[in-house]
Amino acid sequence: MPIAWLSDLHLDRASPAAVARLHQTVRRTDADSAICTGDTSHAKRLVDDLSRLADTVAGPLYVVLGNHDHYGDSVGAVRDALLALGARRPEIRWLPPAGVVALPDGRHLVGVDGWADGRHGDPIGTPVTLNDDRLIAELAAEPTRVGKLAVRKVLADADAARLDTLLGRAIEDGATELLVATHVPPFVECLPAGSRIAHPHWHPLLICGATGEVLRRRAARHPGVTFEVLAGHSHARHEAQISPNLRVRIAGARYGEPEVQGGA
Ligand SMILES: [Fe+2]
Repeated sequence: MPIAWLSDLHLDRASPAAVARLHQTVRRTDADSAICTGDTSHAKRLVDDLSRLADTVAGPLYVVLGNHDHYGDSVGAVRDALLALGARRPEIRWLPPAGVVALPDGRHLVGVDGWADGRHGDPIGTPVTLNDDRLIAELAAEPTRVGKLAVRKVLADADAARLDTLLGRAIEDGATELLVATHVPPFVECLPAGSRIAHPHWHPLLICGATGEVLRRRAARHPGVTFEVLAGHSHARHEAQISPNLRVRIAGARYGEPEVQGGA
């Protein structure tokens, strides 16, 4: 397996034995590198958990952040910690600032974190909420749903703009096979039809409409380029072909049982 795909490991909720098993499994894949599509841990443990994970991979560990990775701190502080970690350990590469990564197999990798942005469903009326609202400082600071939604939209729009820049740069460089890592699924089609989370109540909390719009537009504009997206967040394993050259794979996950998704 040249690239191991990891997602939603939630290592803060796994026993030391389960974490050790994961490390052993990653080692056994003999992967040259790994891609981690978010929710590795929570803020206080993230740097340690990523460092230990990187010790199990021969080459780079490419990372995007999930909402849970910010729990207990702020988006700003966690990003700062990731940049500092990357300066100390250059093999741990947070993807948004890493730019366009040319992979040994000829594909090009880009990534952004992504945020559920309420572009689908009814973000104000939905009866469902996420702990993000209490546990991430920028969201907790906003007392109203409208305020929290505004913060989410700003975060998602910034990531979507970054994604558009990275995709444009990769295509200009001659990329024909793009691998896109992100945490939050970009399309409603990523949620398994008929499942509990496919209900429109969940859409505002599980989908990043802003990155979806960028991906759909780029894929339509560049029919000769294939776009394969890896995402997590919903914990419901699924694949969706959005258009002829745009496919999304969503990671399955269970709290307490961190596992390797397979090859990327
Ligand atoms: Fe998760």
